[in-house]
Amino acid sequence: MDRLQIEGGVALSGDVRISGAKNAALPIIAGTLLADGPVTLGNVPHLHDVTTMIALLGNMGVQITVDDRMQVEVDARTTSKFVAPYELVKTMRASILVLGPLLARFGHAEVSMPGGCAIGARPVNLHVEGLRTMGADIHVDHGFIRATCKRLQGARLVLETVTVTGTENLMIAAALAQGETVIENAAREPEIIDLANFLIAMGAKIQGAGTDKIVIQGVERLHGAHYEVMPDRIEAGTYLVAAAITGGKVRLQNARADHLDAVLLKLKEAGAKIDSGADWIELDMQGRRPRSVDIRTAPYPAFPTDMQAQFAALNSVADGVGTVIETIFENRFMHMHELQRMGAEMRIEGHSAIIRGVQQLTGAPVMATDLRASAGLVLAGLVADGTTVVDRIYHIDRGYERIEEKLAQLGARIKRLSSRKG
Ligand code: EPZ
Repeated sequence: MDRLQIEGGVALSGDVRISGAKNAALPIIAGTLLADGPVTLGNVPHLHDVTTMIALLGNMGVQITVDDRMQVEVDARTTSKFVAPYELVKTMRASILVLGPLLARFGHAEVSMPGGCAIGARPVNLHVEGLRTMGADIHVDHGFIRATCKRLQGARLVLETVTVTGTENLMIAAALAQGETVIENAAREPEIIDLANFLIAMGAKIQGAGTDKIVIQGVERLHGAHYEVMPDRIEAGTYLVAAAITGGKVRLQNARADHLDAVLLKLKEAGAKIDSGADWIELDMQGRRPRSVDIRTAPYPAFPTDMQAQFAALNSVADGVGTVIETIFENRFMHMHELQRMGAEMRIEGHSAIIRGVQQLTGAPVMATDLRASAGLVLAGLVADGTTVVDRIYHIDRGYERIEEKLAQLGARIKRLSSRKG
């Protein structure tokens, strides 16, 4: 199992290019199942989760190839199996995103139930109930979701909880349904807008993506298209916190400031100077120690849960006391205990962590438990005194492209310790 070894104490500086968004690429790749012509995708991030989604479609008989510039070419006309097996689904919950397109295009789907994960139970009841309301016959047994339908029927769907992939699954399914579908209380994340723009490029009729009410007029067929995936706002936010926590100055290329309002506001509160343009963001901490900030996660456009661990690390060394409240997932504080092993001082009360910043964290061997927790521990290692070794970094490789190369480019003393012999 690979590990990352970090020597703390360097103020990061320089330029870094942000990759395509994992959480846009995954639903968009799933959505290519709808097209009855070839689709090409650009700016796809080279990540383990993307590789898994590509393997999932390949396993169904879809012709899917990736070139060395991560341009993905897909032709779903050869799809012959409508199954997402446990072996693939257990490594990536987002596999549930093939349920909607398989039903909408082929009227048949067998998708292994995605188990929970470290951060929570992660149920998919809203995905299933929405598709049932659209006419699908769905049974869940032996760990599988087995679904069939003639042709999905448009319907009015009121989601009791804001769900990102639930909104995505239902929007994809509605694109080929008979009639109009209205999704109320829809998720508003930028990745939803990117998916809608991709479906529209294939001929779908969608209005309201990015608001809490999305209206889709089903069409008979969708043609092929080319689409460029949006930049990853969480990767961008992570590198901005890396600059802030080390007192450095970093410029992100291929980043969208308008996707990060809540995060940029908190970084300014922490004392960072921020400038931005159409496709770049610059953060200058001017060598100063950050000030503590209060964070409360909530659905977009509020503060993203995927940036919570990174700000917990920032608060650990900030001047003052910062409160971090997690409202989305029931168990997304595992990084807090690892930060405490590095000397962070905090009190955890349920879903709240009250963090009193210390002058200096100390490097330690720590363990990653989920994608963003591991990012938070890397950030802490960048500023800790001495050596930090982050174990189980396969979590990181799922969501951050070449993280040690990008951080080293910014001056960090970081290297990957491969467990592979020889
Ligand atoms: C997406 O997960 C992201 N993953 C997550 O990013 C992100 O943390 C999350 O949205 C919240 O922003 C992808 O886009 C691939 P939800 P998702 O459905 O869609 C409850 C990362 O680090 N819920 O919006 O699975 C659920 O339990 C990952 O990149 C139901 O109750 O999250 C949670 O409390 C981690 N029933 C809340 O909704 C359902 O059917 C929000 O979950 C679905 C969800």
